[in-house]
Amino acid sequence: MKTLKLGLLGFGNAGRAFAKILEDKKQEIMDSFGYNIIVTGITTGSRGNLYNADGIDLKKAWCELEGQGHFNKAGSDYSQMTSMELVENGEYDVIVEMTPLDIFTGQPATDHLRKAMGRGKHAVTANKGPIAWYYNDLKKLADKMDVQFYYETTVMDGTPIFNLKDETLKFCKVTEINGILNTTTNYVLEELAKGKAYDAVIAEGKKIGFVEADPSMDIEGWDAAAKVTALLNVLMEAGITPRDVDRTGIENITIEDIEKANEQGKIIKLLCKGTLENGQVVASVKPTLVEQGSLMSVIDGTSSVVQITTDLMGKLTIIEHDPELVQTGYGIFSDVLRIVRNLV
Ligand SMILES: NC(=O)c1ccc[n+]([C@@H]2O[C@H](COP(=O)([O-])OP(=O)(O)OC[C@H]3O[C@@H](n4cnc5c(N)ncnc54)[C@H](OP(=O)(O)O)[C@@H]3O)[C@@H](O)[C@H]2O)c1
Repeated sequence: MKTLKLGLLGFGNAGRAFAKILEDKKQEIMDSFGYNIIVTGITTGSRGNLYNADGIDLKKAWCELEGQGHFNKAGSDYSQMTSMELVENGEYDVIVEMTPLDIFTGQPATDHLRKAMGRGKHAVTANKGPIAWYYNDLKKLADKMDVQFYYETTVMDGTPIFNLKDETLKFCKVTEINGILNTTTNYVLEELAKGKAYDAVIAEGKKIGFVEADPSMDIEGWDAAAKVTALLNVLMEAGITPRDVDRTGIENITIEDIEKANEQGKIIKLLCKGTLENGQVVASVKPTLVEQGSLMSVIDGTSSVVQITTDLMGKLTIIEHDPELVQTGYGIFSDVLRIVRNLV
């Protein structure tokens, strides 16, 4: 039996959802691929860190965080190792980047990935910042160091999009991408359409967890811009950053706009788009009128959609219906599994 060691950066909702699937599928992976996957390091921002080169008890780790909100300082694996120290000096084969997104810099996640791959380690990221800001550099580094680098969870959780292109649509050229990639704006537009005031919708959304404490990244279209940038950088080799996206959020949409659209048999959705113009990829995020009853009009709540137009396979549409955390965990798991399968 071979061993594959993982270093986990971040152990929040995504990290724990991934850890639970990994633990659950441990025996199946051993039986199918002859690999025992263990976690040697876990770092967090403020809840302590764990390190054990022979493997951490994962179940104990998530029980401690979910029970008392931090790792047990008296535990034998409790460590002072910071994220960068783990990346630079820890014993692991794959770094799994699951720290919070900084939408304007892609840091410190990008540096974590750079250092790890620079050491010849494989890398997986759930954090879209590095793919939106530095995809080309990171891909070049992965190729130079001959390591595997995957990022399925960065757009639409575990929904296979990057995977689909890599594995199933090989040599298909993607010529256009359309989608609804931000679910907070779905929710806000739907609630506004019920005649509720903007402030009331945001307050209610925060209470039920559909709207972030600071909603501006979603409402102003930055989150959607980062996601469409990630898609375009990987699928269309765009080489752009979120700042290159022609971006308009929904902050100025009024009930009058929604009613006017309704009178024309339309509704407003925050659409993402990437097309080729004179050989250059041009990207936009904009509130757009779509026909009631059309495919885009029925993507609501926490669902999202991406439409990929290709030269050899025409237009393909992938919808993620009402995702929960398990889909996020699975996206990270599927990337790790891909590494294992390629190592066998
Ligand atoms: N949640 C989803 O459904 C989902 C879906 C797709 C992608 N993602 C991406 O996955 C990443 C994690 O999301 P999440 O939902 O798990 O967020 P989260 O619940 O806020 O967890 C973030 C984790 O990262 C830790 N952290 C903060 N700064 C760190 C640092 N410098 N080094 C190491 N750990 C650090 C946090 O520790 P403290 O709690 O101590 O601060 C926490 O454990 C984000 O980039 C997000 O965009 C999430």
